[in-house]
Amino acid sequence: MAETVTLGRTEVRVPRLGLGVMIWGEATGAQRFMPAKSSYGGTHAADEQAAFDASLAAEINFFDTAAMYSAGGSERRLGELAEGKAVVIATKFPPTPFGRAQDLPAALESSLGNLRRSSVDLYQHHFPSRRVEIPALLELMADAVEAGKIKAVGVSNYSAAQMRTAYEALAKRGIPLASNQVQYSLLHRQPETNGVLDACRELGITLIAYQPLASGALTGKYLDGSRPFGIRRFREPFRGSKFQALRPVVTLLRLIGDRYGKSSGQVALRWLLEQENVVPIPGAKNADQVRHNAGALSFTLTPDEVRYLNEATQGWRT
Ligand SMILES: NC(=O)c1ccc[n+]([C@@H]2O[C@H](COP(=O)([O-])OP(=O)(O)OC[C@H]3O[C@@H](n4cnc5c(N)ncnc54)[C@H](OP(=O)(O)O)[C@@H]3O)[C@@H](O)[C@H]2O)c1
Repeated sequence: MAETVTLGRTEVRVPRLGLGVMIWGEATGAQRFMPAKSSYGGTHAADEQAAFDASLAAEINFFDTAAMYSAGGSERRLGELAEGKAVVIATKFPPTPFGRAQDLPAALESSLGNLRRSSVDLYQHHFPSRRVEIPALLELMADAVEAGKIKAVGVSNYSAAQMRTAYEALAKRGIPLASNQVQYSLLHRQPETNGVLDACRELGITLIAYQPLASGALTGKYLDGSRPFGIRRFREPFRGSKFQALRPVVTLLRLIGDRYGKSSGQVALRWLLEQENVVPIPGAKNADQVRHNAGALSFTLTPDEVRYLNEATQGWRT
């Protein structure tokens, strides 16, 4: 049996590793140019099915999506694949960057319809916005918990101060804040310096790590001169001085991986897994990538190896 943990102090249990399905599903019209699809390019329906099956076979039954990904296309595809299956689904509000707190009940109904479910296991506020007052939104989240439509409440891209505001708003209703989903990898270590990781530990909140492979860069496959598909190629870490600085990091990941018969990407995921309250959610385009990433669950790093990796990526802490 794969190891599971609770999301924060809730009763929702997830495996130590999830699967992000941001780029799955149909994108039509302008959605093809929105960040989720345009960053990576699309996936084929048959590959999504095989990746989903491979994930369940590896006992990774925790899937992350959002109403905003392909205007519900990712939710709809996940709902189709997961129908009748014992899975834990996380999705996010709002469906567009212009959403307001009062839009939550309708947006939640729409996500439930897309997902073909009567409740969402983890409903997250996708990102803080001046248009959305955090306590007002959390009141509506709490109402939905009481109505049985949400099992756990999470946030995403919240600062430590915003997390505390959310935590306190929910505490008044006797509901724990389950998680904060933020960017966290060896090439993005800001949660260690901006107070988010410390606040998660102090308040018993799970840190869900998105882009744990730094959009694929930590696999090392783009160091041989090939360029990644999609517009991510124009951004860090695929360009500029950070791209050159990536090479020694991947060399170290490979050296460590050689001791265990593991790859650079698997060691990068393992570095996150060595922290008890961190759950990485790598994205994957096919079954091979899912199976490969699941290989991060079957070994551990020594404290010295963790320290070498910490030292080699000091430059990515700020
Ligand atoms: N809350 C938020 O604001 C937010 C923002 C971004 C993402 N997320 C969530 O986080 C999830 C993961 O993030 P992400 O997909 O952007 O970044 P990621 O997990 O760091 O990178 C995923 C990409 O890396 C490559 N890859 C994955 N496994 C591989 C393997 N074993 N071998 C070789 N290449 C592999 C694939 O692209 P190629 O094969 O094309 O290289 C894949 O699409 C998303 O699906 C989403 O659920 C949330």
